[in-house]
Amino acid sequence: MSAKIAVLPGDGIGPEIVGEAMKVLDCLRREFGVAVETEQALVGGVAYDAVGHPLPRETLQLAKAADAVLLGAVGGPKWEPLDYSVRPERALLGLRSELGLFANLRPAVLHSQLIAASTLKPEIIEGLDLLIVRELTGDVYFGKPRGIRTLENGERVGINTMVYNEREVRRIAKVAFELAGQRRCKLCSVDKANVLESTELWRQVVTEVGKDYPKVELTHMYVDNAAMQLVRAPKQFDVILTTNLFGDILSDCAAMLTGSIGMLPSASLNESGKGMYEPIHGSAPDIAGKNLANPLATILSLAMLFRYTLRDEATAVRIERAVEEALDAGVRTADIYSPGTHKVSTSQMGDQVVACLRSQAS
Ligand code: IPM
Ligand code: MG
Repeated sequence: MSAKIAVLPGDGIGPEIVGEAMKVLDCLRREFGVAVETEQALVGGVAYDAVGHPLPRETLQLAKAADAVLLGAVGGPKWEPLDYSVRPERALLGLRSELGLFANLRPAVLHSQLIAASTLKPEIIEGLDLLIVRELTGDVYFGKPRGIRTLENGERVGINTMVYNEREVRRIAKVAFELAGQRRCKLCSVDKANVLESTELWRQVVTEVGKDYPKVELTHMYVDNAAMQLVRAPKQFDVILTTNLFGDILSDCAAMLTGSIGMLPSASLNESGKGMYEPIHGSAPDIAGKNLANPLATILSLAMLFRYTLRDEATAVRIERAVEEALDAGVRTADIYSPGTHKVSTSQMGDQVVACLRSQAS
């Protein structure tokens, strides 16, 4: 039986980068007999334009019925004036909560070919391989009360609620400990327990869960220090476990260590391993439609889809190898270009990956 992937290209560069991942998928079907079906649907600003909502009912139904979701990006200046409830970003948050995607895996791996593209010194980042495990369905992103209210004296207040319950912390902590156990067995839990009670509880529960994982070395770090340590000495980290908001911020920071946010894939998983896969960069409206964007984060997200939802490690590794080989061939999109390499477009990069994939078949 073939697996079904809901494909949601979205806004900005979304359609271009997802298009390249589809080329990779076609090649996998043709050359390696990988059995997957895809179906596309609208999400984000383009969905709002078409039907008045960023997450149309049919899109949500398709996403729920599929084994996995591959998403490009959502949002753009065109939709910024819209009410919060119909902003493109709401579609992402809606998919996360409706599908119960509480575990967000954001690996930051330095591809050695790109060491010159990072703003950090080579010795700081050489061999970097860390994984951020971000809680994705709690915290200020979903906590209530929220909103902008007007007080009796006419003054407005903006409110969000940072809240975690034990169950939410326990389940994400388990995911992080399991993953750390498969890697270098080091887990750093990042919080702000010196100031925020919601993360004081976070620290207590993570510590409790840790008792079941004696092989994994658990440390705790405040988020401000973690941000500093990420740029000072990022190789001290193996797995970082953190909250929704802190994970959002730290993962952008970690992305830059690797040279470009255009390289970083992500997986968002629910209790049963179903997942949504997307690059961690946004819709980059400034370069949309120009065939300039880097499709590798999306292609690497497809690899994660095979690894975590379809449990097809061989195909995941095959895709990742093809990306390495494309980089070895010296082709670079603008964001990862450095002198001495060959600058290519979005579609040329996708073609190169497909060519490398095809040569693995012969
Ligand atoms: C991310 C993004 C989203 C987030 C936005 C677009 C809602 O920044 O996935 O990191 O804040 O989670
Ligand atoms: Mg973010």
